[in-house]
Amino acid sequence: MKLFVDTADLNEIREAASLGVISGVTTNPTLLAKNGSGDVKSTIQEICRLVPNGPVSMECVTETAEEMLAEGREFVKWADNVYVKVPFNVEGMKAVRAMTNEGIRTNVTLVFSTNQVLLAAAAGATFISSFVGRLDDIGFDGLQVIQEAVELIELHEFDSQILAASIRHPLHVTQAAAAGAHISTIPFKVIKQMYNHPLTDKGIAAFKADWEKLNGPVSV
Ligand code: G3P
Repeated sequence: MKLFVDTADLNEIREAASLGVISGVTTNPTLLAKNGSGDVKSTIQEICRLVPNGPVSMECVTETAEEMLAEGREFVKWADNVYVKVPFNVEGMKAVRAMTNEGIRTNVTLVFSTNQVLLAAAAGATFISSFVGRLDDIGFDGLQVIQEAVELIELHEFDSQILAASIRHPLHVTQAAAAGAHISTIPFKVIKQMYNHPLTDKGIAAFKADWEKLNGPVSV
């Protein structure tokens, strides 16, 4: 499973890229609004420079297939690693089909059911962002959709990849990986939480203390 970072905050992306474990970035209008730079094109171009070998998702905000296609054609001019994020609905899937036919790579977002996954895959989606946390938030099992989606994508040999999105905590990442998700896009705060374990910290401290008993203070 590839790990993407789910943010438009350039400082978070710089730090995430330095970790050596991130393969891409997803943004959305809410994350870009929080970033507050105002100049979306420049922000996306900087993100594409920070993660040059990974997909960077930029989301359409218009409503008709024709308008979204026009947005997508513009977004991919910004950098070679821009993927066009398209919300799931009838017009969105028409736009994804048209973009696919033009070789524009897509990320279908706001997907909550297995049938939506099937339709997005049939439209040619490159990535399909199946939301976990927002389903959990209303008492449904977000991971079940991921599990079914991966099984059907692989059973029917669709080219689309399942991207676990709307991740709320490290366990979601573990569960998405276990369910076979191809990608998980993770808030930077959760990435940092994934590194932490109290027993690791305790063990490192104990190793250092025992070493110093034998060899004196560690000096570099
Ligand atoms: O960016 C797409 C998705 O990961 C956002 O999910 O629920 O945190 O807004 P959410």
